[in-house]
Amino acid sequence: MESSNYNEARVIIRARNEHEALPMPLLLLADPDAVVIERYAALCRWWFADDGNEIIGVCGALERSSGAWEIMNMAVLPRYEGQGIGSRLMKGVLADLDDEGALEVVVCTGNSSLSALAFYQKQGFRMEAIELDYFTRHYAEPIIENGIPCRDQIILRRRQMGTHTPKRPIILSHFQASVSVRIAQIRDAGPLIRMKRRLDEQTTFMLLEPGERMMGESEQRDVIRYALRSANSNIFLAEYSGQIIGYLEAMGGKVMRNRHSVYIVVGVLQEYANRGIGRRLFQTMMHWAEDRGVQRLELTVQSTNERGIHLYRSLGFHIEGIQKQALIVDGNYVDLIQMSLLLSE
Ligand SMILES: CC(C)(COP(=O)(O)OP(=O)(O)OC[C@H]1O[C@@H](n2cnc3c(N)ncnc32)[C@H](O)[C@@H]1OP(=O)(O)O)[C@@H](O)C(=O)NCCC(=O)NCCS
Repeated sequence: MESSNYNEARVIIRARNEHEALPMPLLLLADPDAVVIERYAALCRWWFADDGNEIIGVCGALERSSGAWEIMNMAVLPRYEGQGIGSRLMKGVLADLDDEGALEVVVCTGNSSLSALAFYQKQGFRMEAIELDYFTRHYAEPIIENGIPCRDQIILRRRQMGTHTPKRPIILSHFQASVSVRIAQIRDAGPLIRMKRRLDEQTTFMLLEPGERMMGESEQRDVIRYALRSANSNIFLAEYSGQIIGYLEAMGGKVMRNRHSVYIVVGVLQEYANRGIGRRLFQTMMHWAEDRGVQRLELTVQSTNERGIHLYRSLGFHIEGIQKQALIVDGNYVDLIQMSLLLSE
C-alpha cells in the first residue's frame, strides 16, 4: 500500500466539534459492522487526528460507568499507518480523559491483533482478562490475522495513576445571570403548556409530535397542583424576561416501592438551547431531590440526541440500557437510552 508522509506540525489532535460528521470509512476500518457503530457512535466522545485537509485518525471512547471508559473505536488511515499518528491520538485521548478524572480505560481486541496488542501495551495498558472463544461465538466467518485464527478477546486496562480534580467552576454569563429558575405555580399552567407546544414544533427529541399534545391548560394546572402538594415531585421553570424558556418535570414514584425514584422530562426552547439552561434546571432539581431524600433519578433520551446525552453524562447520569427501536421519528426507528443517577453513590 502506498504510504503518505505527513507533516507532523500540521496534524492536530482535537476533540470532535459539535455537529461535525463522523468519518464513517475510518470507523469501519476498526469495526466492520456499521449497525453496531451506529449504536455506540452517539454515546461516545470522539477525537480526531486532523491534518487540516482531512481526518486521518479517529478514536471514540464510551463512559461505561463513573470514571470507567472504554475505547470503542480507534483507526488511522492505512496510508498514514506506522508514522506515530495513532500514538499521538491515543496520548491526547488519555490525557483528556485523565484531566476529567477518568479512573481507568479499557480496550478489547483479538488474540491475533498483534500490532494492536503491542500498541496498547506501549500506551500503558495491561492485559487483564481473556474471554475465550469470543470471536468464534460472535462472528459467522472465521477471522485470520498474522496467520493466527482470531478466537479470543483480550481485555486490556490502563489505570489512571494521578489524582483528579474534575469539578467545573460555575461561571454565569450575563444571559445566564438574567435567567431565573423557580418552581412552577398554578398561574404558570397556560404559558407552560404553550411553551411545551412550541417545543414540540421545534424539536423531534421530545416524545410528542406537533399537534399531538392533548393536555390543556386546566390539566396542566392539575399537574402543577399535584406537584406542589407532592413530597417527591416538582416542576422547575427557567424564566427570562418574563417568558418561560425551559422546564424540567421531576415526577416521583407513586407507590411505596418506587417513591424514592423520580422520572425526569426536560426541554429548553431552541433559541435558548446550549446556553447552560438545561444544566441550571438539573442542578436546581438535584439540590431539591437531595433535600427530599430522593435516591434515584431516571430519564430516557433518544440515542441521536447528542446534546442531551452529553449533558446528562456530565451531570453524573449513567447508561443503564438501550430500548431498541423504541420510537419511530420521521419514519425512522430510533433507540431510547435509559439513564439514571443514584444520588446516594
Ligand atoms: C437537551 C436540552 C434539555 C439541554 O438543555 P440546554 O440548555 O440546551 O443544555 P446546556 O446548554 O445546559 O448543556 C448542553 C451541553 O451539551 C453540549 N453539546 C451541545 N451540542 C452537543 C453535541 N452535538 N454533542 C455533544 N455535546 C453537545 C454543550 O457543549 C453543553 O455541554 P457543556 O456544558 O459541557 O459545554 C435542550 O437542548 C433541549 O430541550 N433540547 C430539545 C429537547 C430535548 O432534547 N429534550 C430532552 C429529551 S431527553
